[in-house]
Amino acid sequence: MSITDDGEYGQKQIDFLELIWGKGFLSPGGTTEVDLVVDGLDLSGLHILDIGCGCGGAVFHLIKQHGAASAIGIDIEPLVIARATQLTKEYDLTDKARFEVVTPGKLPFPDQHFDMVFSKDAFLHIPDKETLMADIARVLKPNGIIAASDWMRLDDNPPSQVMQDYIAAEGLDMHMCSLDRYSKALTNAGFANIKRQDRNAWYLDLAEQEWQSMTTEPMRSQVVACIGEAEANETSNIWRQMIGVLEIGEHRPGHFRATKQS
Ligand SMILES: C[S@@+](CC[C@H](N)C(=O)[O-])C[C@H]1O[C@@H](n2cnc3c(N)ncnc32)[C@H](O)[C@@H]1O
Repeated sequence: MSITDDGEYGQKQIDFLELIWGKGFLSPGGTTEVDLVVDGLDLSGLHILDIGCGCGGAVFHLIKQHGAASAIGIDIEPLVIARATQLTKEYDLTDKARFEVVTPGKLPFPDQHFDMVFSKDAFLHIPDKETLMADIARVLKPNGIIAASDWMRLDDNPPSQVMQDYIAAEGLDMHMCSLDRYSKALTNAGFANIKRQDRNAWYLDLAEQEWQSMTTEPMRSQVVACIGEAEANETSNIWRQMIGVLEIGEHRPGHFRATKQS
């Protein structure tokens, strides 16, 4: 029994992750981390695509705080899109934010359609990074920007046993690669001005705080109320495994950004 038994991002997983990571977020860091992914960029008036948008937290922030004109969030999980659509109404953003369920594969948009592609910790679920970057280049306008955060690995060698054990414990389809692989894929897809940022130390520190919080009161009771005692225990054990692979430096969250050459 695990919180991913009702789907990779089923209702229990969504409720638990929003409790830990904040309303609208299925990844760590909230709006502060979104700010860092787009730091220094002027997003006013831009038309943005968020790939693997989850419950829409980043889309809402990019519109409300960064002045994006509009954003479309896409995701393969109907329940996260339902939650994002619910929040769109709650935040009164139906004229600017739209969310769609998609099937994995080619992006369902015309060529040169978006000013920017954003993504937060979703590419790890997509195995073929080279095809993904080429397709992102296709849907971007000339000089369009990709700005992404992802859960990556130190290198592209086969994962260590502890990493394999951690990935198996998560119960998610995870295809983490190195920042180097993304850089090569971006260059081959026609991107330039590649900027990279390693976030391992930041998340190691935050993940420790998250574990402390979820295993002590008052959060412990909220987690148990959300997913039950057995799954609360299992999930805190998985968090410890994640902290282990962050500590040895094999699990490396990071950001990258690049511009499509015209
Ligand atoms: C860790 S969550 C992050 C969600 C959101 N970006 C956030 O930061 O809150 C990863 C998301 O990627 C989605 N996903 C997985 N494979 C996908 C694919 N091929 N295309 C689009 N979304 C995908 C999952 O359903 C999930 O909502």
